[in-house]
Formats: sequence, C-alpha cells, structure tokens
Amino acid sequence: MTVRGWVSHLRSSGKIAFIVVRDGTGLLQAVLVKSQVTPEVWERFPQLTQETCVSVTGEVRQEARAPGGYEMGVTGLDVLGSSPIDYPIQPKEHGVDFLLDNRHLWLRSQRQVAILRVRHEIEQAIHDFFYEKGFIHVDTPILTAAIGERSGLFQTEYFDEGFAYLAQTGQLYGEAAAAALGCIYTFGPTFRAEKSKTRRHLTEFWMIEPEMAFYDSSDNMRVQEEMLVHIVRRVLERRRPELTVLERDVSKLERIKPPFPRIEYSDAVSILQKKGSSITWGDDLGAEDESLLVEDYETPVFVCNYPKQAKAFYMKENPADPRTVLCDDCLAPEGYGEIIGGSQREDDHDKLVERIKEEGLPMDAYGWYLDLRKYGTFVHSGYGLGLERTVAWICGNPHIRESIAFPRMMSRLRP
Ligand code: 4AD
Ligand code: MG
Repeated sequence: MTVRGWVSHLRSSGKIAFIVVRDGTGLLQAVLVKSQVTPEVWERFPQLTQETCVSVTGEVRQEARAPGGYEMGVTGLDVLGSSPIDYPIQPKEHGVDFLLDNRHLWLRSQRQVAILRVRHEIEQAIHDFFYEKGFIHVDTPILTAAIGERSGLFQTEYFDEGFAYLAQTGQLYGEAAAAALGCIYTFGPTFRAEKSKTRRHLTEFWMIEPEMAFYDSSDNMRVQEEMLVHIVRRVLERRRPELTVLERDVSKLERIKPPFPRIEYSDAVSILQKKGSSITWGDDLGAEDESLLVEDYETPVFVCNYPKQAKAFYMKENPADPRTVLCDDCLAPEGYGEIIGGSQREDDHDKLVERIKEEGLPMDAYGWYLDLRKYGTFVHSGYGLGLERTVAWICGNPHIRESIAFPRMMSRLRP
C-alpha cells in the first residue's frame, strides 16, 4: 500500500524508526527497519520533521500496540513537501489566542479533527432528518433589505439601493417559501454584529431554520424534540471514536430522550426567583438563568410563551395571554443554554402591521412579508437551531469558538 499524509510523530532507536502519518482518515504507524530498506530510504528519515508531507509504501499488518491496530512495514519513503522545524504548534500548552492566530494549522490537531467530524455528522443528520420528512431545502439570501432580529446588523453599501444588511436569519424568506412548498428548511450562514464577548456568541454562525405550514407552536416543539433526539442518536451511533478523543461523557448524551419538559415562561420566572435569580416578569432569561433552570433536568428543556417585549416582532400573540407570544426557547442541558429559538408566526395582517410600527421598523422593507398575510394567510411555525452551539454541547466544549473551522468573533477576523 501507499499512504500519503503528514508526519505527526517521529521516534527512532538507531536501527528502527517510527513515523506516525496523519492522512485525514486517521493515523498510521509506519516502521522502517534499517536492515530491510535501501540506504537511500533509510537516509530520508532524518530529514523528516513534524508536518513534513510524505508518501510511505509498504505492507500493512495487524499490530495491537499501533494506533488503529495496524502498522506498515515500510519499503519506500518519499518526501513530498518539507516542513521547517519551526512549526508553531508543538506538543505543549499554548494559549488560546495563539492557537486561534494559528487556526489554519491548529485544525490539524486530533481534537480539532474530531470536532469537525462531529460537526459534519450533525449537518448530515439534519439534512437526512428533513429529507426523510419530505421538507424541501431552500437557500435564502445573505444580502437583504429587511431586518429579521433585534440584534446588531452588518451593513454594506448596495449600488443605488441604499444599504444591504447581512442576513441575521433566513426565516422571513422561509415563510414565503412555506406558502409555496408547505414544509421547508434553510441551512446557511447568518450574521450578528453583537458586541457580546461570551462563550456562546459568534458574529457569523450557521443556522438551520425549518418553516412549516399548518404547524402550531406545540407541533413546532414536537419537531424540535424529534430533530434533537435524531441528531444525538446519530452522533452516538457513528462518531464514538471522536467523542472518545474529546473525552465526552457519553452517558449524558445517552439520556437524551423525549419528551422534553415544556415550562411556561411565567412558571420559569417563579422557579428562578426561588432559586435566587433577580429576574422579574418581562425580562429575557440571562445565561445564568438558563443554567439554573436546566440543572434539574437531563434532557433539553423548552421555555414557552415569553412576554412580547422580550421577543421579535413576527411572533404570534398568545390568545390565552396577549401579554405574551406563542414561542419557545430550547435550552440544552449541562448549562449550554439556548440552542433553538422558535415560534408560531403572527398570521393576522393588522396585528403584524402594529408590531412593525411598535418596533420602529421601516414598513416599506416589509411590504412583501405582509403580502404573505394578505394572500391566503395561514397558521405556520418555525425555528432556528444554532449549529455551533449544538456542536459545542454535543462535543462538550465549554466555548463555541472551536465548533467552526474559522470562527468569526468581535476581535477575530483572521485567519
Ligand atoms: O433565537 P434566534 O435569534 O432566532 C432566530 O433567528 C429566528 N429567526 C429563528 C426562527 O424562528 N427561524 O436565533 C436562533 C438560534 C439561537 O437559539 C442560537 O442557537 C443561535 O441561533 N444564535 C447564535 N449562535 C451563535 N452566535 C450568535 N451570536 C447567535 N445568535 C443566535
Ligand atoms: Mg433567541
């Protein structure tokens, strides 16, 4: 066999040398025995350094002590790309800023490879989940004129059209598509110019947003629950080795089973006050509140029907308590906080106009959105799953920054 890859470790004892090669699929221990290779091949070993790109040829055999249970008895060795000895990432503790500055190289480490593989599995599990349900995948624009959420906006000049905003959500377009296709989902990058330096905020993150015709708020939560259970099972089924590298306590993931508790916002406030939080009715839940609330549960928890003033303009007024809207935040266990925000949408044309006015949003940008309430308005609901927060939770990473290959944060635009 011939394997091409990068040198991960080197070791030698005079007459025998070991090269551990990383090729993206795993690690291979390649063994050179001085008496069994040509002098040219043997001479190439001392030229190797960490990250030299090599091609090794030889016979593969079982070897219980080697990584992966196999090793290669090398007969041929070629250097494809040399690597100077100053490779920045060494097997020692580095500060996280240094590692982020070298993110393009940090990605090669075993932990980062494991995280990216889990992320990939989650993405595929989500596509499969919606495909099996017959949802249509719709791509929505990134350059937009209308604002979706309250958080900060990135804007750029757009020819003679004034400003374009980078999409904070695909939802509004998803709603238009749901009236055409029934059940749809979007899967794309979203942008928030939030000045939050927390473990949970990126300025660019990926969001999955289903939008479902004829689903009410309760149906909406059922889909969220089913999707999260599906994702967790799939990762447990197919990415155990990666979870082992990440030292994830998988017993916590194995306990993710439906149904997830549904706690009314008003009840959540009383529970939190009893637990010592200073929250008062009307406030959004802070990160600490979210952690306090989920500490008694092993599964994700829904908090439903928040006060109007805490949430976005498009959420449907709750007929049972018009101070509130029909919505839910899904909070991940173990203190990972909100991973999903969802709601039933306001389908009453005039109420929606009122809300747009109250929020001081430019009515002309929402003409097309109001048309959806004019031409055959319909009960519909949807939600947004934050991909990086989900990856952080499933991998057990305390900070969101390692959940994406090249994180974008307030003070990080490079590499
Ligand atoms: O709760 P949010 O703001 O909801 C929406 O954008 C709706 N339009 C979704 C919908 O109903 N279609 O955001 C949804 C999720 C959050 O729960 C969180 O997981 C993630 O997106 N999120 C972020 N992730 C990383 N960094 C940020 N700055 C994030 N802001 C939101
Ligand atoms: Mg939210």
